[in-house]
Amino acid sequence: MADLDELIGQMTLEEKAALCSGASAWTTTSVERLGIPAMLVSDGPHGVRRVPDIHSMGATSLPATAFPTASALASTWDVDLIRKMGEALAEEAIALNVDVLLGPGNNMKRTPLCGRNFEYFSEDPFLSGEMAAGLINGIQSKGVGTSLKHFAANNQEYQRFVTNAEVDERTLREIYLPAFETAMKKGKPWTVMCAYNKLNGNYCSQNRELLTDILKNEWGFEGLVVSDWGAVHDRVAALKAGLDWQMPGPRDADVQAVIKAVRDGSLDEDTLNESVRRILQIVFKTAETPKGGEFDVEAHHALARRIAGESIILLKNNGILPLANPQHIAVIGRSAREAHFQGGGSSHINPTKVAVPYVELQQVALNAELTYAEGYPRDDSYQPAMIDEAVKLAQSADVALLYIALPSFKESEGYDRPDLDLTEQQVALIKAVSKVQPNTVVILNNGAPVDMRAWLDDTAAVLEAWMMGQAGGGAITDVLFGKVNPSGKLAETFPLRLADTPAYTNYPGENGAVRYGEGLFIGYRYYTAREIPVQFPFGYGLSYTTFQYSNPKVSAQQFKDVDGLTASVDVTNTGKWIGKEVVQVYVHDRKSRLVRPPRELKGFAKVELRPGETKTVNISLDFRSFACYDPAYKRWITEDGEFDILIGSSSTDIRFAETVTLDSSLALPSVLNHESTIREWLADPRGRMVFQPMYDQMVHQMMSAMGSNEDSDAIGMDMTGFMLEMPILSILQFQESALPKPAYEIVNDLLQQVHGK
Ligand code: BGC
Repeated sequence: MADLDELIGQMTLEEKAALCSGASAWTTTSVERLGIPAMLVSDGPHGVRRVPDIHSMGATSLPATAFPTASALASTWDVDLIRKMGEALAEEAIALNVDVLLGPGNNMKRTPLCGRNFEYFSEDPFLSGEMAAGLINGIQSKGVGTSLKHFAANNQEYQRFVTNAEVDERTLREIYLPAFETAMKKGKPWTVMCAYNKLNGNYCSQNRELLTDILKNEWGFEGLVVSDWGAVHDRVAALKAGLDWQMPGPRDADVQAVIKAVRDGSLDEDTLNESVRRILQIVFKTAETPKGGEFDVEAHHALARRIAGESIILLKNNGILPLANPQHIAVIGRSAREAHFQGGGSSHINPTKVAVPYVELQQVALNAELTYAEGYPRDDSYQPAMIDEAVKLAQSADVALLYIALPSFKESEGYDRPDLDLTEQQVALIKAVSKVQPNTVVILNNGAPVDMRAWLDDTAAVLEAWMMGQAGGGAITDVLFGKVNPSGKLAETFPLRLADTPAYTNYPGENGAVRYGEGLFIGYRYYTAREIPVQFPFGYGLSYTTFQYSNPKVSAQQFKDVDGLTASVDVTNTGKWIGKEVVQVYVHDRKSRLVRPPRELKGFAKVELRPGETKTVNISLDFRSFACYDPAYKRWITEDGEFDILIGSSSTDIRFAETVTLDSSLALPSVLNHESTIREWLADPRGRMVFQPMYDQMVHQMMSAMGSNEDSDAIGMDMTGFMLEMPILSILQFQESALPKPAYEIVNDLLQQVHGK
C-alpha cells in the first residue's frame, strides 16, 4: 500500500476535496497523476446489483444470484451459513468488478410496518449483530469490502429522508446501536453508511456524536463513513462530523464549498486530510483484490436454495407435512408461477435464474396430478371468479397448496406498509379454499409479519417462506416433501394485531419527528413485559421431529461479571427425522436500579441431531450479557445480584431457568446528589453508610412526635413510606430550625463523605 501521508502531501486541495465526493453514482474520484484508482461500490446486501452504467442509479443490473433477504437469513440463526453466503457474494462482486458491497442492512425492526424490514435481520440487537458480522466476515474474507448500514435509527420508510428519530440515550445504546457495535467489532466492515434521517435533532450525516465520538473513537472504526445516497445536506458540516465520503456524485458545488471552507479557515485542513486518509486506505485495500473472471452460477444457486431451506419456518402443521405421496395436488396462487423472492428498491437483483415453485413441484411430485389456478390478481382488485375457480380445483384434490405473496404495493423500500394485511382477495381465497379442502397448506412469501387471524385456524399447515431468493421455489418443495426438515425460527415476533405492536402509538410521528416512546421495549421485550399474546413469538418455529431438553447447567452459581458464565443443556432428537434445533439463552436481571426487560437474548446455537441422538450445547455469556447502559455513568454497568439464565426453544418456550449470582467488578462513583430521595440514599451502599444513623434518628423523632402510631390518623398515611420518597434536602429543610446548621450544608457534608472528597 502506498504511503498515505506522503500521498496526501502531494495532493492539491482540489484533489482532496474531490476525493471526498463521488465521481459518479457508484465510484470514487480517481487521481491519475498520483496513481489513485477509482473504487466501485454496488448494492447490496443480498446479491450484487452491479449497474453497468456508473452514472445510472436504477438501470437493470448485470445478472447475479438473488439470495434470500435479511428476514430470511436471520431466520436460519446460522452464522456460519450466512458467512458462506458472504463468500459467494464476494465471488460475484469480484467477477462483476465491484470493490465494496453496500450492505448488510442492520437496523432494528421497531415496527412491522417498516416497508424495508425485509432488508433487516431482527427485532433483537444480539441476533442482528451476529448475523451482520457473519455476512461481513464472509464477504471481506475474499477481499471485497462491505458497508454496514444505515447508521443509525433508520427504522421506518415514512419520511425516511428527514424524520427526526427521538431516541433516549439508554434506548439508543441498548437497542439501536448494539447490532452495529457487534458487527463493527466482530466484522470490522471497511465502510459504514450513515442513515438519511435525523437522530435527536441532527442529520445522521452531520452527527458528530454518532460518526466520530461513538463509531470512530469509542468503537475504534478504522474504515470510511459513506453517506446514504443523497443524505448529505451541508457538506462542510458533514465532514466536520466525520462523514468521509459523500455519495452519489458528482457534486461540484459541494466540492467547491469544501475548498472554500479550507481557504477561509472555517474548515481545518487536517479534518479534510483525515477523511482523505480514510478513503485512500480503503481504495487501495480494495484495489489489492484482482477483479474479473466468472462465478459459479449453479453452485451459488444451490447455496441460495440451501439457505432458503434453512430459513423457511414451519408455523403450523397438523401433521399433513411432509406430504406423503399425494395423488392430486391443487396448486393455487399466482406466486406459484411467478416466484416472489425479493423486495423492491436498491436491493433488487437481476437474478441469474429463477426456481419457479410450480415447476419445482412438477419435478418432485412425479406421480401426482398437478392442477393450477391463479387465485388472485396482480393488483388490489377483488375477483370472485378467480376464487370460484380455485375452490373447484381444491375440492377434487388430495391437498391444496396455496402460494400467497404479499404484493410489492404493500411492502417495499421507499414506503411503509399501510397495515399487516394480505389483500382482501388473498384472505377470501384462503378461507374459501380451506373450507372445501381440509388439507390446505399456505405458503407465504413476504418480508415481514402478516395478520393471520382471519384464516389461520382453518388451515392444515403454514410455511413462512419469506422473500426467499431466486432458488426459494426449490427450497419450498424440499420442505413440503421432507427433503429438508424445517429448522427456521422467527427472528421477529408475529403479533396478533397491529394495535398490539410496541410502537403503535408513537408511529409514524408528527411534525417531522418520531418519538421512540416505547424505549427499550420493542419486539419480544415488549410482548413479554406486557404479557400481550402474540400469533407466533420470537424464536419460534416447528420441525418434523421433536427435541427434548435435559441436564441444564451453569458453569458457576456465583461469578464475576468480567469472567462471564457458560450455560449448557443436552438436546435430544426424540422424533423420527433428522433435524436442527436452535437453542436460545435469555437473561433476566431479577432486581435492578434501572428498568430491565423480562428477558433478553444473549446467546444461541443451532445443532443438527439424528433421531435418538443427544448433543450438549454450550453457550457462553460475557460481561455485556448482564450489563445495561446507565446514562448516569455514560457506560455499561453491572450490579451485584441475582440473574435468571433462561434456556429455551423460543422466547416463550423456556425449558429451564437457572438462577445465578453476579459479583460486579465495578466500583462506580455514587450518583447521589441533593435531589436524591431518602430511598435512594439508603439503596446506595456508601449513602447508606453515612446517612443511616441520621435516618434512624429522624424516624425515632418522628415516631415520638406522633405518639407510637406510625399510621398517623391525622393525615391518613404511612409516614415512613412518605419520607422515603422525599429528597434528602427537602426533608432536612422541614426540620431546619432544629438543625445545628443549614440543611444544604448538612447534605453537602454527607455528599462529601459519599464521594470521598
Ligand atoms: C438506500 C441504500 C442504498 C443506496 C444506493 C439508498 O436509497 O437507502 O440502502 O445502498 O440507496 O442504492
